[in-house]
Amino acid sequence: MKQFNVGIIGATGMVGQRFSLLLADHPWFNVKVLAASPRSAGKRYEDAVGAKWAFRDMPIPEKFRDMIVLDATADIEKIASQVDFVFCAVDMKKDEIRALEERYAKAECPVVSNNSAHRFTPDVPMVVPEINPEHIEIIKAQRERLGTKRGFIAVKSNCSLQSYVPALHPLMKDFGVSQAMVCTYQAISGAGKTFETMPQIIDNVIPYIGGEEEKSEQEPLKIWGHIEGNEIVKASAPKISAQCLRVPVSDGHMGAIFVKFEKKPTKEEILSAWKSFSGVPQELGLPSAPKQFINYFEEDDRPQTKLDRMLENGMAVSVGRLREDIIFDYKFVCLSHNTLRGAAGGAVLMAELLAAKGYFD
Ligand SMILES: NC(=O)c1ccc[n+]([C@@H]2O[C@H](COP(=O)([O-])OP(=O)(O)OC[C@H]3O[C@@H](n4cnc5c(N)ncnc54)[C@H](OP(=O)(O)O)[C@@H]3O)[C@@H](O)[C@H]2O)c1
Repeated sequence: MKQFNVGIIGATGMVGQRFSLLLADHPWFNVKVLAASPRSAGKRYEDAVGAKWAFRDMPIPEKFRDMIVLDATADIEKIASQVDFVFCAVDMKKDEIRALEERYAKAECPVVSNNSAHRFTPDVPMVVPEINPEHIEIIKAQRERLGTKRGFIAVKSNCSLQSYVPALHPLMKDFGVSQAMVCTYQAISGAGKTFETMPQIIDNVIPYIGGEEEKSEQEPLKIWGHIEGNEIVKASAPKISAQCLRVPVSDGHMGAIFVKFEKKPTKEEILSAWKSFSGVPQELGLPSAPKQFINYFEEDDRPQTKLDRMLENGMAVSVGRLREDIIFDYKFVCLSHNTLRGAAGGAVLMAELLAAKGYFD
């Protein structure tokens, strides 16, 4: 595979730090640029990150320590001239992010984004590579709108849904998922926090995460949508109702799911659909793809966040406790790592898909 030079925009943040770890030894992607806010620009990466480095057991990769952080906004042209594409994960206002990402795209620098700003732009693909890889074909229409040859924006969906959307997906074609009720138990790294920076979460549950429930209900419908002309049209089903809670966990979002089908499957049919499911990333053997995407645990007390979030380098989804329900048809629990599969890892996998399909050439 060809090698690509990449930049990390928002490199000093929680997701940006994850990118630095994932890309330090990536077989296809070579990090040439680290960029963040004007507060960090001009500093060595190690100094800019300082006490914000979130991984006690993993140091800052040696090769990045002395790199001088660039200014994500002021240095766009310079960055675009040095890289083949950028990963973007910044904490800015939505309209600022939308404008920033479009400026990179218009500078002919593709953007693989973790931010929510463009998730509902109709010609921006929001991709879980195992589920809707075909949505990247909308990039042609987006390039026409932006007037670019190479530049485009592709986004990752929210981290909250990265466990239950994969679990429901293999059941949709044969059994028709009509309704899902979802309660998520979300880690503090999802808010860019550690126990040091969010002490109020210790011995506590906070029953509100701004904007999260709407994302958890609406984003799956775009992922399950289809391309029609110059846009992705959202699916009309299933109806999803979500409650999202912040819990005292460092990493890993757990979900408790209730599901109703058009045609109720047997438990064995559900387990078999999960076991046999694999997607384009597995077929192509993409470097970050888990071998087994959906893993079912037979034990009553699994999956557990702490024990199972790192399954297949944090890129697999863990499911357990499938049983019949007295209101819905079935209920189960599921788990995915929010900053790996749910953020940086999912974005790297999407970039691998785009690279394999020639979108960075
Ligand atoms: N954490 C997760 O699990 C997760 C999952 C999915 C998506 N996301 C999304 O990813 C994005 C980043 O999240 P995070 O948790 O990594 O946030 P974070 O830890 O607060 O990091 C924010 C990053 O944005 C940079 N930044 C802030 N203001 C900027 C500006 N004006 N110009 C350029 N860069 C600026 C920061 O640079 P300085 O250090 O210089 O301030 C830092 O690198 C957010 O949009 C978030 O919604 C996060």
